Amino acid sequence: MKISFAAPAAHTGAIAVPAFDKARFSAAAAEVDKACGGALSRAVKASRFTGKAGETLEVTAPAGLDAGRVVIFGLGDEKKAGAGVIEKAAAAVVKKLLLSGETAIGIRLDGVADAEGAARAGLGARLAAYRFDGYRTKLTADKKPSLKSVTVLTSDEKAAKAAWKSWEPVAEGVELARDLVMEPANVLSPPAYARRMKKLEKDGLEVEVLGEAEMKKLGMGSLLGVGQGSAQESQMVILRWNGGKKGDRPLVFVGKGVTFDTGGISLKPGDGMWDMKGDMGGSAAVAGLMKTLAGRKAKVNAIGVLGLVENMPDGKAQRPGDIVTSMSGQTIEVLNTDAEGRLVLADALWYAQDRFDPEFMINLATLTGAILIALGQEHAGIFSNNDRIAERLSKAGEASGEPVWRLPLGPAYDKQIDSPVADMKNIGQGRLAGSITAAQFLQRFVNSKPWCHIDIAGTAWKDKSDDPREPSWGTGYGVRLLDRFIRDYYEK
Ligand code: BES
Ligand code: MN
Ligand code: ZN
Repeated sequence: MKISFAAPAAHTGAIAVPAFDKARFSAAAAEVDKACGGALSRAVKASRFTGKAGETLEVTAPAGLDAGRVVIFGLGDEKKAGAGVIEKAAAAVVKKLLLSGETAIGIRLDGVADAEGAARAGLGARLAAYRFDGYRTKLTADKKPSLKSVTVLTSDEKAAKAAWKSWEPVAEGVELARDLVMEPANVLSPPAYARRMKKLEKDGLEVEVLGEAEMKKLGMGSLLGVGQGSAQESQMVILRWNGGKKGDRPLVFVGKGVTFDTGGISLKPGDGMWDMKGDMGGSAAVAGLMKTLAGRKAKVNAIGVLGLVENMPDGKAQRPGDIVTSMSGQTIEVLNTDAEGRLVLADALWYAQDRFDPEFMINLATLTGAILIALGQEHAGIFSNNDRIAERLSKAGEASGEPVWRLPLGPAYDKQIDSPVADMKNIGQGRLAGSITAAQFLQRFVNSKPWCHIDIAGTAWKDKSDDPREPSWGTGYGVRLLDRFIRDYYEK
């Protein structure tokens, strides 16, 4: 999708115009309505369009206009129609037209949005246009997207273009994360994933890959145990962006990258197991975030650490009851090989804090089915030893449209992962508070560093989303949240 910015007068062809609550027309909508002899007003009267944020109404080939269609889009309450509302509304317009036969649309935002809002409309448009069609060889012409270009029409074209420089990289980061989540596990094995990450060098990132021999030397028995039953070699990828001052402590992001989670010897039931190709969604969000930071030349030092493994049952696979020694020296009794994400993160988190002396560490992981029971697919769960980070993430979640909800940690939960034969076990007592006991496990590998765990098992993929910015399946959840978090609190 080509996104550009122009003055309203420069545009000809299909056009989208905003309206507010009670279907009140913006100045732009009133102007277009007049040009086509009141066709828009008549269409509104004949429909149930109310101007609510996210609503759209299409008017085809109105007389008096040289345009195949006009789309009226709702922004709701004008006083609340900030950049987030505009982003989502632009996405709704693009979703509506993507397969319509229309090839180009101008979205009027003059008098409604500032430069930031105009740029965010560009982001919404790009997110809504995302497709994963690379493996479809038989897509007929009428099923292929027709819309190729979106022009955001604004009174300050120059300022909007400048703002776009910092938002286009967000679209690119989300697209990368989505591609990685969508990719099947036969294509995206840990080594193939690491090779893709190597390509991010041309974006300006430093990329380092550790193989099994190096991880063994570092003592990462916890991570390596998970990959032990796979024919694919486990990998750890370190992505670095040095955009801050030389001595500034790095912001560190750690991602669970289980390229496929069969459950291992504690095998999952077959039904719906395919979606465990998305069990690397945490690492995908970290990769996407790092691409975004480099793309917009963020003024921070940031490091992404991806723990990439495949969890398979095999003659060499780890067994329930095995005891492994993590890089931290702590021993873990693996009572369930399907609780593997925490085993991967244990070594990745320890390594990150040990090597990089971070300002803070944030990890993302599709860690527990229990988080879906608690929060559904509307919020990711956050768990933190630091109130300030938790609050900032909550605010960034609201601002970005990727919301989070905090859940508690505490010694009574921590006790549940004590083991009679090792320092800890990798599951809690029964099924109660499964997301929290998983978080307690991670906390044992972060010492006193400010840290937050984001459980994205409910948000990394969705069969079908109501949000026009999200495709069906891989959402790329986490990139926009963390980009916003960094923008608002660590670059100013
Ligand atoms: N990757 C899964 C968690 C998951 C479940 C993600 C559903 C997305 C959707 C994780 O590795 C897992 O299997 N967790 C177990 C933990 C249990 C064995 C303690 C779970 O949630 O059942
Ligand atoms: Mn699992
Ligand atoms: Zn998993």
